[in-house]
Amino acid sequence: MIKTIKTTPYADQKMGTAGLRRKSKVVLQERYFENFIQSIFNVIKPEGKTYVLGGDGRFYNDVAIQKFIKMAVANGVKKLIIGQKGYLSTPASSNLILKMHTDGGFVLTASHNPGGENGDFGIKYATETGGQCSEKVSNEIFEQTKTISEYKICDVEDINLSQLGLQKLENMEILIVDPIKDYVEMMENIFDFALIKKLFASGFTFAFDAMNAVTGPYAVEIFENILGAKKGSVRNFVPMKDFGGLHPDPNLVYAKDLVATMFGDNAPDFGAANDGDGDRNMILGKKFFVTPSDSLAILTDNYNLIPAYKNGIYGVAKSMATSTAVERVAKEHKIGYYEVPTGWKYFVNLMDSKRITFCGEESFGTGSSHIREKDGIWAVLFWLNIIAATGKSVEQITREHWKKYGRSYYMRFDFDGIATDVANDLMKNLESKMPLLSGKELGSFKVALAEVFTYKDPVDLSETTNGMRVVMEDGSRIVFRLSGTSSSGATLRVYLEKLERNKLDGEPREMVQELLQIAMEIAEIEKRTGKKHADIET
Ligand code: G1P
Ligand code: ZN
Repeated sequence: MIKTIKTTPYADQKMGTAGLRRKSKVVLQERYFENFIQSIFNVIKPEGKTYVLGGDGRFYNDVAIQKFIKMAVANGVKKLIIGQKGYLSTPASSNLILKMHTDGGFVLTASHNPGGENGDFGIKYATETGGQCSEKVSNEIFEQTKTISEYKICDVEDINLSQLGLQKLENMEILIVDPIKDYVEMMENIFDFALIKKLFASGFTFAFDAMNAVTGPYAVEIFENILGAKKGSVRNFVPMKDFGGLHPDPNLVYAKDLVATMFGDNAPDFGAANDGDGDRNMILGKKFFVTPSDSLAILTDNYNLIPAYKNGIYGVAKSMATSTAVERVAKEHKIGYYEVPTGWKYFVNLMDSKRITFCGEESFGTGSSHIREKDGIWAVLFWLNIIAATGKSVEQITREHWKKYGRSYYMRFDFDGIATDVANDLMKNLESKMPLLSGKELGSFKVALAEVFTYKDPVDLSETTNGMRVVMEDGSRIVFRLSGTSSSGATLRVYLEKLERNKLDGEPREMVQELLQIAMEIAEIEKRTGKKHADIET
């Protein structure tokens, strides 16, 4: 029985860098989730259409997914393809959208943000491209959320999400699929599994941290069961509602356990971690960390070692804030090169129009056009394939890379929990200074370019501005932007890059110190926010 329920709008349902992300307590408010989903439906007109649905298993995933199903029936959806028990990683969902030619998909996740009642919840909406919707569509959805007055829902029992196969709910078909199978098949078609198997059989040691989130079952199947990594190589592999209290963000700060293992005695040969919904990755060697910017550059440089890419790649793109390491590789290989605003959706048109094959962000995201989202396990397999093909260690591969291309010492400084108006004023003030900085000497640097970053999409010609950059004559850079994923308040991100051609074994923190001082001064960070230091340094 379809019911139309009266509702009143919430003012804060604008999607950010990656969908809608809010405190769980906010999403738990009455009709909050329903308002948002109905607003999407009002824009995308889902009647007669097919969508993929899943989530990273966090708190409220199980409740929200049932609500979604009942609203989908009431809004005339023809078919939902749902990951068993409601699980799907973001990359697995993107794969299903493309493989099953659906009209789009939904992942219930707040990505790498903590979960649980006191954590965050979120919704990512992807179109038939397999990638998240454009800014234009998300603005239309936001407009709907401001005026919504009713939503439709079907009054039925909860659906059994454990039973694989087809079932019917009123006029809608529900296909429950194994969330892992299709994803594994795709990976087998990209990488040289036989070669990686040999690597593990030779005694190569490995540690993967799934951080109690969605990639655990994928990682156990791929790395242990199929590729033969020793049992126990994958840790924290049971998805939990609150991620066992972990902050499932694979970086040096939050993947503490894994970092301790990799920097301890008897460290394994290779270490990696993924985030809550499986799209981010961190790569570690024995007592060695690879920055995501370097990782993108190294993967790109070695594309010819991978079966799916060995006949050539179109090009590569990075978010503007990501270091310039991959730019030098693109030049060397004479392939296309693009810089886009932060957010994976900006890569989608470049992939669809065959301008790029690989792309990445400094925020631990790497991927290729096999799907339209970043892909954590893909990045790990890529590294394993390179190691298996070259017989070199993570550290050796990276050091040889620096020798050839120079080293971009790179760090990001996050200033969290700033009042929104303070943050906006800081950015406005900085923007007014940009034209004055060009040609100026700042410490030992000379500014070559200082500007607000504007991107014109070569396909749809839309323009987006995102943050500011100060580029020095020696190639070093300072980038400022406000986060688009904070679930409350504002976060200022300052990205620092010091380019060195000769000094290759410095300490990153020391190497960027002067740039940090300059950044603090020109943005007046202490004066405006009261913060002497960043809250997080990665
Ligand atoms: C952050 C990252 C960005 C990434 C996004 C979603 O967004 O910086 O690279 O695409 O999360 O994972 P931000 O909070 O900086 O807007
Ligand atoms: Zn994520």
